[in-house]
Amino acid sequence: MYRSHTCGELRIEHVGQNVELSGWVAKNRSLGSMSFVDLRDRYGITQLAFNEVYNQELLNKANELGREFVIRIKGTVAERSSKNSNIPTGEIEVIVTELQVLNASKTPPFTIETETDGGDELRMKYRYLDLRREVVRKNLELRHRLAQEIRRYLSDQNFLEVETPVLIKSTPEGARDFVVPSRLNPGEWYALPQSPQTFKQLLMVSGFDRYFQIVKCFRDEDLRADRQPEFTQIDCELSFIERNDILDIFEGMVRHLFIQEKGMHFEDFPRMTYADAMKYYGSDKPDVRFGMKFVELKSEERDVISGAGFGIFDSAESVIGICVPGAASLTRKQIDALTDYVKRPQVGASGMIWCRKEESGELKSSVDKFYDADKLAKWSEAFQAQNGDLLLLLAGPIDKTRKQLNELRLKVAADLGLRNPNVFAPLWVVDFPLLEWDEDSQRFHAMHHPFTSPLPEHRELMKTEPGRVNANAYDLVINGVEIGGGSIRIHDQQLQAEMFGLLGFSSEEAQAQFGFLMNAFEYGAPPHGGIALGFDRLCSLFGGSDSIRDFIAFPKNNSGRDTMIDAPSALTKEQLSDLDQK
Ligand code: AMO
Repeated sequence: MYRSHTCGELRIEHVGQNVELSGWVAKNRSLGSMSFVDLRDRYGITQLAFNEVYNQELLNKANELGREFVIRIKGTVAERSSKNSNIPTGEIEVIVTELQVLNASKTPPFTIETETDGGDELRMKYRYLDLRREVVRKNLELRHRLAQEIRRYLSDQNFLEVETPVLIKSTPEGARDFVVPSRLNPGEWYALPQSPQTFKQLLMVSGFDRYFQIVKCFRDEDLRADRQPEFTQIDCELSFIERNDILDIFEGMVRHLFIQEKGMHFEDFPRMTYADAMKYYGSDKPDVRFGMKFVELKSEERDVISGAGFGIFDSAESVIGICVPGAASLTRKQIDALTDYVKRPQVGASGMIWCRKEESGELKSSVDKFYDADKLAKWSEAFQAQNGDLLLLLAGPIDKTRKQLNELRLKVAADLGLRNPNVFAPLWVVDFPLLEWDEDSQRFHAMHHPFTSPLPEHRELMKTEPGRVNANAYDLVINGVEIGGGSIRIHDQQLQAEMFGLLGFSSEEAQAQFGFLMNAFEYGAPPHGGIALGFDRLCSLFGGSDSIRDFIAFPKNNSGRDTMIDAPSALTKEQLSDLDQK
């Protein structure tokens, strides 16, 4: 037996007991006549005490222990004279009577503590050591708990967990595929699934009724804090179901997770149309933890700003702004920094106009030359600005301006500390456009994927004005992050053929790529729909971090590399010729 207890277990009530522990040396402090070793395992840290009065030989041996040595000890639990209230075992220590070194360790390249001295790259290269750190381990424990609760919730709702294959044919999620050559079929390739989309629909044809899978998906796309080339979805599909049923079930699941994990209870999640999300937040994933909704001073609907001789506003298609509460006190320097922010190429605005409503109620703007107090009062009224608020305006083509103002809104909120990771604001965004016009290829793309059905009331518009058709699709958004997305699917062959037609597929092309699904639909496809939630994103949201990497045991870096195992890497000549030979 290596241990009678774990390193996180012993408390004051164990005092006097003889125990055995095994773990890693986290710290070794020698005070001459005595030594203290912090022993770490997955469960916590326990202080070991070595004292010359008890055993000089043991003390000498303890003094030789290096960081991360693996040891096993026997000893007696004692009350500590100086207690450490920061750790659960902080009231006790173990007076060691026997010490065995199970394995020595090289000095690790960074300190294995919450505040480590290791940079990102070093920690990724030695990820197995990084995983010994409590913060990282806690993230994976959270991931485990969420996965367990998700399985429990879905299983209780009659969902069956079914595994779908990983070596498949290209799926239609819109990113690039990772591909794998087939040795047995020279010149032919598998694609790794971007999602199990087509398989889960086939399972509905098979009558499985309710399917789920916590599943790896692969997408060869540019990486960001919330995107990895391989990531995990909670993938689900249901038959004989309508949109609202799906929203209720998955809202229920997310609510269940918040209750279990955080003891937080939520009212019904608000539902917002895509059109409103774009109009009021300039984003299809609005962060609604705080206000600062957009106000249009000039748009198709109204114009309370043109005609004062200010060319930029007079000629712009739109002028849109936000009212930042209590920010009239920002200095010119701080406002200039915001102007510089929106002018960065990543945001791309040509400038920013501001108007302060001083505490006295007096209005002052960066365009005082054109707008006198009466005119500025109209702006203030449109925003319902309070004394002490600051208005920030951007002008330009409406779609671009909305996107730029979204960036500004998020930046200002972050600066003001309004993006609090302990506050959660979930919502559903619904009624996405079905199709997206792509200027470069001069054709429509499916905004979600080609199996998404139009809203029933827009069915006829598909023939006349396809660009105006809304999809029966929905996204779950929490704190400005797209956590999940799904749709009611097309189960009617005629409609599916029409959809492929709109997407510019000839019927031969559609048959070649998705024939298996279309054929299956000839054998009694039930009405069905589904959703997939990004599991890594859900974990990072619950863990209060922006980066999903912290919640993946062995993640890739931003160039898609695993620096620990050094992948991707070249193949040997033999491997390559194996693939070429036949
Ligand atoms: P979608 O493409 O919206 O839908 O993906 C579902 C969710 O998966 C997460 N996600 C990612 N997470 C990390 N890294 C990535 N590269 C990445 N890409 C996507 C997001 C996203 O909301 N088959 C459809 C679902 C359906 O219609 O049922 C699909 O895959 O959180």
